[in-house]
Amino acid sequence: MTTSIKIIQPDDWHVHFREDEMLKVVTKYSSRVNRRCIAMPNTSNPITSSDQASAYKKLIESNSYNENFEALIPCYLTDSLNLNDFTFALQNNIFVGGKLYPNNATTNSQHGVNDIKKIYNIFEILEKENRVLLIHGELNRDDIDIFDREKYFIDEELFQIRNTFKDLKIVLEHVSSSYGVDFVNVNKNIGGTITPHHMLLTKDDVFKNEKINPHHYCMPVVKNEEDLLSLRKAACFDNDKFFLGTDSAPHLTKDKIQHESLKAGIFSSPCSLELYANIFEEEHALHNLEKFSSINGPQFYGLDINSQVLTLNKIETEVPEYTEEGNIKIKNFFAGKKINWKV
Ligand code: DOR
Ligand code: ZN
Repeated sequence: MTTSIKIIQPDDWHVHFREDEMLKVVTKYSSRVNRRCIAMPNTSNPITSSDQASAYKKLIESNSYNENFEALIPCYLTDSLNLNDFTFALQNNIFVGGKLYPNNATTNSQHGVNDIKKIYNIFEILEKENRVLLIHGELNRDDIDIFDREKYFIDEELFQIRNTFKDLKIVLEHVSSSYGVDFVNVNKNIGGTITPHHMLLTKDDVFKNEKINPHHYCMPVVKNEEDLLSLRKAACFDNDKFFLGTDSAPHLTKDKIQHESLKAGIFSSPCSLELYANIFEEEHALHNLEKFSSINGPQFYGLDINSQVLTLNKIETEVPEYTEEGNIKIKNFFAGKKINWKV
């Protein structure tokens, strides 16, 4: 029986660090195991300029627990960006790429893009500068079922973006459906991040007996068993185009349970790598974990693979109910459940 595994230090290609006190807490956990994280720009005042990105990067890195830790910031794309500043920031490694939030697709996406064709000039810049377009791939429209938002986005938008900008590197973030997995697999220059929760939950874990479990509610919403199995296969075996992105997205517990409009997001940072290890073990694919966690991502982004190594030991631990510090209280994903691995 395997009792310990060594892997190259991972990176997390999708994390929400938030702001203020919350940022300190998230940074502590995300810099615990990762060398680099992509820090999502959907802060309360979205990150759309080089100055904001530099300040945000500095703030996160100064709170990290790991000296080599690096935060990579994508620009929150809007149809009113200053394109000179945007290009300057891409050329000077201030922006790692651009993040497309379709309008009202998720938390703080009210500044996102309504008419995606209007920002094709931005995609052109990203393609020319060889930078990555990160996409929240969902269309939120009244006539679209919440479970079909990813499929509609692929059919009505992504297909055309892919075919118009053939050299543009695209990441379909938090792929949530077998339809999304298939699209990434058959198209060129496109990768996908996969969260632990989309490989552990199905819609029954969110919507049951006419009650919603707010701690399992996220965007894209988790789907069917068939989708979960397809995501597990993509992460564990079709192992070139998919990489680690937790989409760890904390909300205060009080905001999760007291509000009529429920905040979407799952906080997994305190145990995310261990959860991935559990899943890979269940799939008899522990030997492929390192590719997913530490190799495919940097290769896709054109960055160096990390040089340090980290050990996961087979030690059973129980995930604490909450992450609590000062005024911050966040419900942990997988709370009260046992995990087989420990960094
Ligand atoms: O569930 C989610 N929460 N999905 C996202 O895309 C954004 C995130 C957040 O910022 O809370
Ligand atoms: Zn996210």
